Amino acid sequence: MNIAILGGTGKEGAGLGARWALAGHSIIIGSRDGERARGKAAEMREKTKKLTIIGHSNLDAARLGDVVVLALPAVGLDATLRPLADACRGKVVVSTVVPLTFGGPRLFTPPAAGSSAEEAQALLPDAKVVAAFHHIAAHELAETEHAIECDLLTCGGDAAAKAVVTELGASMGLRTLDVGPLSNAGPIEGITAILATINRRYKLKNSGIKITGV
Ligand SMILES: NC(=O)c1ccc[n+]([C@@H]2O[C@H](COP(=O)([O-])OP(=O)(O)OC[C@H]3O[C@@H](n4cnc5c(N)ncnc54)[C@H](OP(=O)(O)O)[C@@H]3O)[C@@H](O)[C@H]2O)c1
Repeated sequence: MNIAILGGTGKEGAGLGARWALAGHSIIIGSRDGERARGKAAEMREKTKKLTIIGHSNLDAARLGDVVVLALPAVGLDATLRPLADACRGKVVVSTVVPLTFGGPRLFTPPAAGSSAEEAQALLPDAKVVAAFHHIAAHELAETEHAIECDLLTCGGDAAAKAVVTELGASMGLRTLDVGPLSNAGPIEGITAILATINRRYKLKNSGIKITGV
């Protein structure tokens, strides 16, 4: 699959890209700056020994991807996605975005839409937005020689789009649990605020979640 990762120059996007490249997918790293994306892609090719990683501007990456992954800060969603509605039309768009505000009175600061995934869906009305990968820490993704100890929770309004995300999760060894419509994205994103607090309190980098009883 051709997977475009917007904000793929960051830790989360690069970690996802490395795992997927190793699983045989083609990766297009997206950035606000095409040169930065090309530099990151070269670094990732070197690290993974996979030649199927290239870099582009976010717009060109979104045009080239069969699937588009959002791996950028919540504050950047509006400006980034507004020009991409055409490029993302009909595509599966995976939002990993968590609306966190560090250093303020509240860590979890969801937008008016209820969640970053719902904000993305409103900005990309003709895309099939699926929320996923919020609980898979960048640190965990980066250690590609280790299996990831975490379940993948996913929600969205389109069953076929969720099946694609389940396949992408399976390709990096994750069990996926479908937790219903996109209106559940707020609680899913909120769990990451809990994980970030656990990480800080217990001096960890990669706490995650496993659902029992399934
Ligand atoms: N880090 C984690 O462990 C983790 C875990 C789960 C979910 N997430 C979520 O995944 C997303 C990415 O996390 P990250 O840690 O990789 O974040 P990050 O390093 O802060 O940002 C990722 C990339 O987004 C781009 N970016 C930064 N500010 C932007 C803005 N205002 N508008 C548009 N693009 C901007 C930058 O790329 P360019 O400058 O190249 O454009 C940056 O390299 C976040 O929403 C985060 O909540 C992260």
